[in-house]
Parts: sequence; structure tokens; C-alpha cells
Amino acid sequence: MRTPIVAGNWKMHKTVAQAVELTRSLRRALVDVSGVEVVLCPPFTALAATREAIGPAKIGLGSQDMHFEEQGAFTGEVSPSMVAELCQFVILGHSERRQYFGETDAGDNKKARAARAHNLTPIICVGENLDQNRAGETAAWVGGQVRSAFEGISPEDASRVVIAYEPIWAIGTGLAAEPAEVNQIIGVSIRGTLSDIFGETVAQSIRVQYGGSVKPDNVAAFAIQPEIDGALVGGASLKSDRFVELVKAFTP
Ligand code: 13P
Repeated sequence: MRTPIVAGNWKMHKTVAQAVELTRSLRRALVDVSGVEVVLCPPFTALAATREAIGPAKIGLGSQDMHFEEQGAFTGEVSPSMVAELCQFVILGHSERRQYFGETDAGDNKKARAARAHNLTPIICVGENLDQNRAGETAAWVGGQVRSAFEGISPEDASRVVIAYEPIWAIGTGLAAEPAEVNQIIGVSIRGTLSDIFGETVAQSIRVQYGGSVKPDNVAAFAIQPEIDGALVGGASLKSDRFVELVKAFTP
């Protein structure tokens, strides 16, 4: 059985003080919740303070990106060991990074390998845009992204990776994908591809989240799908009560 994992991607929101306030509130509200892994992904500037606010609570911390190189003249970048000093997780290949900052499958694969080398759990984002969706290209596209992301990764490391299936057209639009369709895409295109590469046992061990306009009023329909192992949440992760509802929806 895969433990569900619900992660909040705060994107470019929350000052240090706001991050601490939200974290404290989540800590209180989630104290009795078990059976689901919770991860907070604040901006780099708030990682240290969020870690301190998490304290001994069973809440994971992730960065929203990182560089694959160990160190060097890369102005503005943060290395895997810097992230690993504070975090257990790192979001990689988010569509906003691919779209606005020129990230590629090959670069994100280097990041995924670097993350595993530092014992970080990568949350690797994949997903098609609206044109690809309308043209019926989703399965092939997403399968290809999964293949690239896992290039050169051992089966042992693969089972420690989390995938987030985020159709680009569903992100921040209020227009979530159909839960049954998501279940099908994850089962066939994502887990099917993983099974081709690593075999069925490893494929069954890898957690796959859905992301894209997940909200308290639609989360239940995603949570009941057998292939969906949690959510990667943007907007609805910025308010404590809303995020708590999403986490609770995935409790077994
Ligand atoms: P929204 O939940 O705001 O649609 O964002 C999803 C997302 O991009 C999470 O990484």
C-alpha cells in the first residue's frame, strides 16, 4: 500500500512571517491526522523559518526547485546539498519552471539524479498543455516525460520518487481534470511506463499525485481514485483551513 502524500506548493507567496504563521496553524490543525504524509514547499527565503516552525511535528519540507551542480558560479541558484540541509523533498520540473524559465526534460533528469544522490525525495511534475490534450497526445507526451525523468535512476531510487501529474490547463484555472480520466492517465501512461522501465513491483511502489485546481469541494472525487496517491496543491494550500481539508480527504 502506498501512503498518500499531500504537498502544498506555495509558489511565490508568503513572506517569512506569513510562512511561520501558516505553518503554526497547520501544525495545530494536523496534530491528530495520520496515515497521510504532508509536505510544505515555501519559497527558498522561508525554508529555514518554516523548518523551525514545523519543529518536531511530522510535516515534511520541500523546496520548489534546485540546481543539479554541487556548487559553483551559478548566481541565483541553490545546490542539492543546500536544499538537503533543510528539506526532505524537492519539487522538480514544475510546468511554470518549464514554461517561464526554460527547464528541459534533460535538465530535470539531472536534478532528479542529484536529488537522489542527496537522499532528497524529488516530486517530479509532468503534464500536457491544452493543445496536446485536445489533440489526444496526452498519453504519449506524459509517458515520454516520465521516461526522461527516470533516465539513469536505479530501481531502488525510483521507488523513492514522487510524481505529480499536473495537466497545465488545470493549474490555477479552477478547471480541474476529470478524476476518472486522471486515474486512467496515471494507471496507463505513468504507471504503465514505470512498469516498462522498472517492472511492476517498483511501478506499484511509486506514489503519483494529481495537481491542478484541487479544492475542498472537488478533492473527495480524486481521493477515491485508486491510482491517485495524493495531491500537489497550489492556491488552496495558502490557507490553513482549506489545506487541512485536502489533507484529511486523503486519510485512509
Ligand atoms: P493550483 O492548485 O493553484 O491549480 O496549482 C497547482 C500546482 O501547480 C501545484 O504545483
